[in-house]
Amino acid sequence: MVVIHVSAECYPVAKVGGLGDVVGSLPKYQQAAGITSMVVVPYYDRQFARESSLEVIYQSEVPLGNKMLSFEVLKESTDKLGFPLHLIRIPDLLDRPDIYSYPDETEQFVAFQLAVLEWLLQFGEKPDIVHCHDHQAALIPFLMNHSFRYNRLTNIPTVLTIHNAQYQGWFGWDKYHYLPDVDPWKWGMLDWQGSINPLACGVKSCWAYTTVSPSYLEELKTNSNGLEELFILEEAKSKGIINGIDTNVWNPATDAMIPCNYHIDNVSKGKQENKRTICKDFGLSLSKPLVAFIGRLVHEKGADLLPEAISHLLTSLKGKVSVLVLGSGDPVIEEALAGLRNTYKKDYNVFIGYDEALSHVIYAGADFILMPSRVEPCGLNQLYALRYGTIPIVRSTGGLKDTVIDFSETDGYGVRFTEADPEAIAEAVTRATELCSNTPGIRLLRKRMMNLDFSWNRSADEYIDLYKSLNNLNI
Ligand code: ADP
Ligand code: GLC
Repeated sequence: MVVIHVSAECYPVAKVGGLGDVVGSLPKYQQAAGITSMVVVPYYDRQFARESSLEVIYQSEVPLGNKMLSFEVLKESTDKLGFPLHLIRIPDLLDRPDIYSYPDETEQFVAFQLAVLEWLLQFGEKPDIVHCHDHQAALIPFLMNHSFRYNRLTNIPTVLTIHNAQYQGWFGWDKYHYLPDVDPWKWGMLDWQGSINPLACGVKSCWAYTTVSPSYLEELKTNSNGLEELFILEEAKSKGIINGIDTNVWNPATDAMIPCNYHIDNVSKGKQENKRTICKDFGLSLSKPLVAFIGRLVHEKGADLLPEAISHLLTSLKGKVSVLVLGSGDPVIEEALAGLRNTYKKDYNVFIGYDEALSHVIYAGADFILMPSRVEPCGLNQLYALRYGTIPIVRSTGGLKDTVIDFSETDGYGVRFTEADPEAIAEAVTRATELCSNTPGIRLLRKRMMNLDFSWNRSADEYIDLYKSLNNLNI
């Protein structure tokens, strides 16, 4: 069986968040299960592409409105990622340093998808599944079915995985002409409330769609940024599959990004050594429980609640806890978090920016990882935390609800809370830090967490079963 994943991100080629982690890891597990699992992402002007050995395997042109754009498909020739990787290079449009947020993002990702389809058209043997991720790839199922230009691809089953339905990729009908040869009876499928909505169109057109946790699948029916009705209508072809993690990349025993490697039998000592490095680098005290937040500083992650929650916490637990934040995003939140440094010098610090290596050190050295998300389709931070013996403190929503059991319950290991407000966050952190006075209790929780298996071994088969059900294939 041959599967092609189409995505805007793939770690370590290009990552902004969890989408990159998933597309960089699931194919490895699929390859191990005997599937040929290929990935195609845009060629960005980033370190990975510059330093890799890439071979041009296809060159052509793609129409975008009244322009013809030249593009190349490059293949990473050493297979160093553990799966075949292809990059679509469209000079002057896609090969830029950043992944998102350019004013011509619509043109970028429409052209990317059209180039993928042009390339697929000339495949001798067609893939068995085209697996699209998020709105940047969600027009593909529609175009495969309802554009005369691509109708030779109609019989290939398509899967759309929704990592985050907040972002839908809307654009105006004035750009309809970017989409070539659309069947005039079908253009209505592109529409949602007066705009072209790639995510909605993908849900309508794909053979099956998945979300990255079962709880998120349920939540979309009542909270999905305007698509609630659609998710109720299309429910029959949906499935919630919880994400896995790459346990080779995220392994405290071998992780080259952390100062001190450790495993389940020396977790307390190992974590203490890593904590020593963080505390030294950020001017925090080694003897206090360290609570960390890592993530995009946006409303969805509850990051706007952090400044007030941290003030609350550091005032009520005066001197009994330290907090460290690593993140970037909304400038207002960044500024508020940076401003707190002056008030709580010894108990708080923040690193505004994106730093993959620092994130690993924090997962290893922090005592707790805080995730006050308002919406969390799956969440990977809590899974990395568990793997590193770090207790997650999470709001009960989406994938957090599906992966974290409160320590007060049988076999529990984390801390859960319900309300998205600063008081509830401070209360949950207080409850968590009280655990620290019980050394045997903390040791037990750490071991329990590190024994959990959140690798793709748990869920990779669910995708394979889905592919098979669509294709009736035997692998
Ligand atoms: P999302 O994809 O919504 O941002 P996830 O929890 O699925 O959330 O994944 C976030 C990923 O991005 C994790 O690998 C996390 O460690 C990483 N990450 C987020 N912000 C940063 C940052 N500022 N520096 C380093 N890594 C980060
Ligand atoms: C999205 C979601 C996050 C999920 C990730 C990977 O970015 O916000 O919850 O873990 O995708 O699926």
